[in-house]
Amino acid sequence: MSSNNRNADQLPHILVLGMGGTIAGLASNPTENPLQYEAGQIEISALLAHVQSAIPSGISLVSHQVANINSRDLSEAQLTLLGKTVQEALENPMVRGIVVTHGTDTIEETGIFLQLTCGKNAQNLGKRVILTGAMLPANAPKADGPSNLLDAIRWASTPLDNCPGGIYAVMDGMACMAMDLAKRHASALNAPIMGSPSSSAGLINPSWLSGVKAIEAAWTEDLPIPKEHEWPWVEILTSHAGARSETISHWLGSKVAGLVLAGSGMGGFHQEWQKPLMEAANRGIALVRTSRTGAGATLPDMPDKDIPGCLASGTLTAPRARIALQLALNAEKQAKLAGKSLTWQDFFARIAVLPEIG
Ligand code: SIN
Repeated sequence: MSSNNRNADQLPHILVLGMGGTIAGLASNPTENPLQYEAGQIEISALLAHVQSAIPSGISLVSHQVANINSRDLSEAQLTLLGKTVQEALENPMVRGIVVTHGTDTIEETGIFLQLTCGKNAQNLGKRVILTGAMLPANAPKADGPSNLLDAIRWASTPLDNCPGGIYAVMDGMACMAMDLAKRHASALNAPIMGSPSSSAGLINPSWLSGVKAIEAAWTEDLPIPKEHEWPWVEILTSHAGARSETISHWLGSKVAGLVLAGSGMGGFHQEWQKPLMEAANRGIALVRTSRTGAGATLPDMPDKDIPGCLASGTLTAPRARIALQLALNAEKQAKLAGKSLTWQDFFARIAVLPEIG
């Protein structure tokens, strides 16, 4: 790890972890075509140099490059590395808060991953972990990265009336729980959508804050982080007009551990899937139902009675349900090793009932 101000090593640290993304991207012709660029080109220490003069007093910035990638290439091993780094930093008494710069394409997965593996610990230790990114590369004339990074550093470091430790995201002048951030437009500059945001500057919205506290009260225990190469294999399959039974039966002879079904409407799937899904459940493949609509909840036995053992995902989107199922399957494995008889359904159900910030 590198400190950007060696004389300030005794001050509380904000650890800034670089994962890459557009915030660290460079366009070859930024004035004419800022959207044609390569993500993950600039080191996190160089990004920090641009905001150093504006950071709040009384803290020092320490940076660490975890990865420098386009987040569409994010691997499970990189999630493990990020999660372990965050866990370690939370325990470090010199670290007051943590910022993670990340590509927006898969920030949705990283947000839920950090919430489920580090959220309780962050809350208990009273430290904030802030995810941020950008929609324009670092050399674009109106690059949004520096202001997002600065906002994230402020959120990680300042007391903020009553806002507890936890896993948040800050972008474009708004803040939300990181598990509520997702990219919902392919190219628009306001593509990262916050489920239920508060302003990231000025006063925090009190009803948002009570929603955050309700989620934190409901999330009672972090899940273990899978070892780098031990993530259970889980795929997302989308139901659609003309869906075929082979989309499911294809997996029956494979080593897949779970399937997330992105159904239509309330999370129903094509009748062609019914028989092979029963077979998948009989073979011990974990099944979770979610909705491809991108909003609203998927509830048990709606619209049809669930296949035995198949769980509805609540408000989790398909990418979030996939991470949740992987963590639940891993937690079942760890529980078995410890002689406990908890199942992946026990762990997944705790996640699927987390309240939504209204
Ligand atoms: C990425 O996700 O790494 C590229 C896109 C972005 O950061 O907005």
